Amino acid sequence: MQQDSGFDEFSVGINAYRVMAPEARAVGVRTHQLRFDNLGAESAGAVSSRVAEDFLTASRLRAPDREGVLSASDYFGDTMVTTLAQLDDDPVPAHQRVELPPSVPATMELGEALMRRRSVRGYSGDPVAAAELATVLRLADGVTAEADIELLRGGRETYRFRTAPSGGGLFPVALHVVALDVGGLDMGVYRYQPVRDVLVREGGQADVDRVLDAFTTPGTAISFDTAAALVVMVASPWRSMRKYGPRGLRFVLHETGCITQNLHLAVTSLGLGSTDCASFVDDRLHAALGIDGVLRAAVHAVVLGRLE
Ligand SMILES: Cc1cc2nc3c(=O)[nH]c(=O)nc-3n(C[C@H](O)[C@H](O)[C@H](O)COP(=O)(O)O)c2cc1C
Repeated sequence: MQQDSGFDEFSVGINAYRVMAPEARAVGVRTHQLRFDNLGAESAGAVSSRVAEDFLTASRLRAPDREGVLSASDYFGDTMVTTLAQLDDDPVPAHQRVELPPSVPATMELGEALMRRRSVRGYSGDPVAAAELATVLRLADGVTAEADIELLRGGRETYRFRTAPSGGGLFPVALHVVALDVGGLDMGVYRYQPVRDVLVREGGQADVDRVLDAFTTPGTAISFDTAAALVVMVASPWRSMRKYGPRGLRFVLHETGCITQNLHLAVTSLGLGSTDCASFVDDRLHAALGIDGVLRAAVHAVVLGRLE
């Protein structure tokens, strides 16, 4: 090995053979396995930053947690109660508002839906009805209950609850729907507004193409051509982090999983098929959805369609 050749062959060797030599400070392709293999090394930082693990440690609950107690206490005052009561109740301009039809019955017994759920990556190519899509969205994260809250200054506000649980009732995850082949619904990008139970039209066919371009999954793995819709989970992390700090990001990801499983079970119970699809280029998807990727970020996606 020539140390002074100007070409750092050592790093290439490391990458090719996964030699455990994290002290090599070179630019090169590094596998996740290399990083894992070198976790215990003294200079592991040369191979990998530890941001993911930093997140786990930064989001630990410690006792006493004075910052946490102070931050949470803010949420029991009248101002925040009113804010929470208005959550996601944004007025929808008439030209963007798309009414959803009544749900169809999803009568499959829960145990059977759990047993039957499987990732389905190929579909018949037939459209899914708007009523079926509406059912899936409502069962995934629709509003199912209301409760009156008394204000300290007198009077009442109404809190709303959904099918999926949410840390502090902050509901930081929104469902964006890409309608590819949904009966009665123009091809386009929509946002499900659970409080008013409507879709908000946010983009047309060109935006659909941009969303699809963000996915790296080959058509042989997941058939977007025969799918009827794509649901993208978009998180607003600060909704939870303002109250819970970094731990709030755990809640965001946890809640994404809750909503996603609700969605899969709803799809299964309707005799449709779905699969998770996390293989998207984040920056492209954010650009296509018109979100910044930090204050609002795509955290997951599900493809669904009619069974073959
Ligand atoms: C977080 C997550 C991300 C996933 N991403 C993809 C994906 O990008 N492409 C894909 O084909 N399947 C994806 N899947 C589906 C898994 O491959 C699938 O759940 C697994 O193989 C188990 O099969 P089952 O869902 O039929 O039980 C993902 C699943 C989860 C939970």
